[in-house]
Amino acid sequence: MAAAEEGQWVLMATGRSPTNIAVIKYWGKRDEALILPVNDSISVTLDPDHLSATTTVAVSPSFPSDRMWLNGKEISLSGGRFQSCLREIRKRAQDVEDEKKGIRIKKEDWGKLHVHIASYNNFPTAAGLASSAAGLACFVFTLGKLMNVKEDHGELSSIARQGSGSACRSIYGGFVKWCMGKNNDGSDSIAVQLADEAHWNDLVIIIAVVSSKQKETSSTSGMRDSVETSPLLQYRAQTVVPERVLKMEEAIKSRNFESFARLTCADSNQFHAVCLDTSPPIFYMNDTSHRIISLVEKWNQSEGTPRVAYTFDAGPNAVLIAPNRKNATILLQKLLYYFPPQDNDLSSYMVGDKSILSDAGLK
Ligand code: ADP
Ligand code: DP6
Ligand code: CO
Repeated sequence: MAAAEEGQWVLMATGRSPTNIAVIKYWGKRDEALILPVNDSISVTLDPDHLSATTTVAVSPSFPSDRMWLNGKEISLSGGRFQSCLREIRKRAQDVEDEKKGIRIKKEDWGKLHVHIASYNNFPTAAGLASSAAGLACFVFTLGKLMNVKEDHGELSSIARQGSGSACRSIYGGFVKWCMGKNNDGSDSIAVQLADEAHWNDLVIIIAVVSSKQKETSSTSGMRDSVETSPLLQYRAQTVVPERVLKMEEAIKSRNFESFARLTCADSNQFHAVCLDTSPPIFYMNDTSHRIISLVEKWNQSEGTPRVAYTFDAGPNAVLIAPNRKNATILLQKLLYYFPPQDNDLSSYMVGDKSILSDAGLK
């Protein structure tokens, strides 16, 4: 660790990771520590210009402990998840040399050095837009960058999974499947890319921010309660999702919007039914969310075929997916007409200026 003992140097790395929105939801763990799910899930990774986490990690011999700030406020790193990711990345750290600054860190020295981490999300945090997916993927990716970790996306994805389940999918762009796996050690619980960013680039995704407030029940504790108390969750995981995943893969492969939309809406609704089936029940959607569902359902029914799909994660905010620009424009007009931003809590729309699937992936 040349220079480490001598000077007060700081070495930094910055990374950006997009969020992803599940169209077949992950909800329930069979192993809490390793984060192994009770069913497969499928998601779309979003354009990082619109929804992403940006994280800077700094290392210096002058830091007496590991610390982290999220959106400018210090948060605790003591939770098992952050610690698992830090441990797994540190284990894989390699020699790092910065000739300009005269810094050389040997791989065996990383265990003695502490990090300071600052992360910002360019979208609401803990509001059901998968901030934990972007955040933990970015945490792992950026630490790996700083520590010169050579592991491939597959390995980084498995480490990110141990930070937040949904984060394992954010390592890849496009459409991604997280296979639940069968092994108890998690070795086959991995994310795979089903199709890349360019595969279905007519799709347009509109995020309607109903509320950017932090939710009352985190995804982690919500799904724990559902596993313990919801009979519907067992039925969903064992009987419904396996078949739905096959159909969804087929719909994505063949760019069949009708099938994609029906499966997406049905899965969102079943996930929220599981939340209601939980004791005590969990209410992630609110009246505005329900009104958005009605608006889309009425439109789709009047046309006889889906014009747009909706999905809601663990929060009230709507993710609306249109097959093309034309339908996205009509949808936006309808949203603005029925939910004029000034007189209700549907506060803002975040709209891709181009197909949201392009530019996805890590930067
Ligand atoms: P969401 O629906 O937004 O994913 P969760 O309840 O799953 O909500 O997770 C929210 C938690 O994820 C936050 O309380 C925080 O611990 C973590 N998180 C969110 N963004 C980041 C980030 N950029 N970096 C690190 N951790 C983050
Ligand atoms: C509704 O990945 O946030 O967004 O693994 O406990 O961190 P932890 O949970 P998290 O759960 C995501 C739930 C969901 C659906 C999904 O993304 O598949
Ligand atoms: Co989350």
